[in-house]
Amino acid sequence: MDNLQDRSGVPLEKDFVTPIVADVFGASQDTLSTALHWIILLMIKFPELQQRLQKEVDAVVGRDRLPALEDQPRLPYVMAFIYEVMRFTSFVPLTIPHATTADTSISGFPVPKNTVIFINQWSINHDPKTWDRPEDFNPLRFLTEDGALNKDLTGSVLIFSLGKRRCIGEELSKLELFLFTTLIAHQCNIHPDPSKPPSMDYNYGLTLKPHDYHISVSLRDNMELLRRERGRSVVESKPPRGAHEG
Ligand code: HEM
Repeated sequence: MDNLQDRSGVPLEKDFVTPIVADVFGASQDTLSTALHWIILLMIKFPELQQRLQKEVDAVVGRDRLPALEDQPRLPYVMAFIYEVMRFTSFVPLTIPHATTADTSISGFPVPKNTVIFINQWSINHDPKTWDRPEDFNPLRFLTEDGALNKDLTGSVLIFSLGKRRCIGEELSKLELFLFTTLIAHQCNIHPDPSKPPSMDYNYGLTLKPHDYHISVSLRDNMELLRRERGRSVVESKPPRGAHEG
């Protein structure tokens, strides 16, 4: 805390800790859980894409270990799927409002002082000038002809906002979504409830949340690998003998 205060010049007292932690949790919980709801929904809506995710993860990771962050560069389809979920759903359609503090202009359009500004992320993610058939869910749009991730195009997806106040959790979120998607694809088969086919309808709010849906989940293999990996992480997290605990 003292170091931070020295660097920023902003007084940082203990009273600030609780609201800052609450802000970070508040900003991350709703957004990430909404992203996960959409990922599962799109996996059951398009079972052939769920299979393609499983195929890529199996080919790169194999069946003898769990996926890890280091696998990311070799899983372009998984990343393409995640970017397409963010683009297609645009589940944070408008950014948090800010206001201009002085007269200014954007692309030649005058914007007076004290104007409230939102960025319409949904319209940027569905602009037909950038996206071919934007209303289709198609992760392949993010892959080049040789199957690599098209970084120019992934950079055009807007969901973490822009400018100084853009989301601070962008990189962390992408890592979490990657791990979640690969682990689910590696370990599970997910099916919709046949009596209630998945609907793409959603509720409006700061985030667009899909309506509740029912799924059935089965393990692709048995529990052996999960037990082994769990045993390993328990051993790894134990302090060395004689180390001070508590
Ligand atoms: C997929 C997940 C996420 C999405 C789509 C998302 C999106 C956004 C958006 C659109 C903003 C508003 C930026 C603006 O004011 O223009 C924002 C702000 C913010 N986000 Fe995220 N976010 C996500 C995850 C997270 C996570 C995991 C964290 C924390 C670790 C986080 C922390 C924050 C904070 C602290 C702000 C306020 C930044 C500021 O006002 O300067 N977000 N986020």
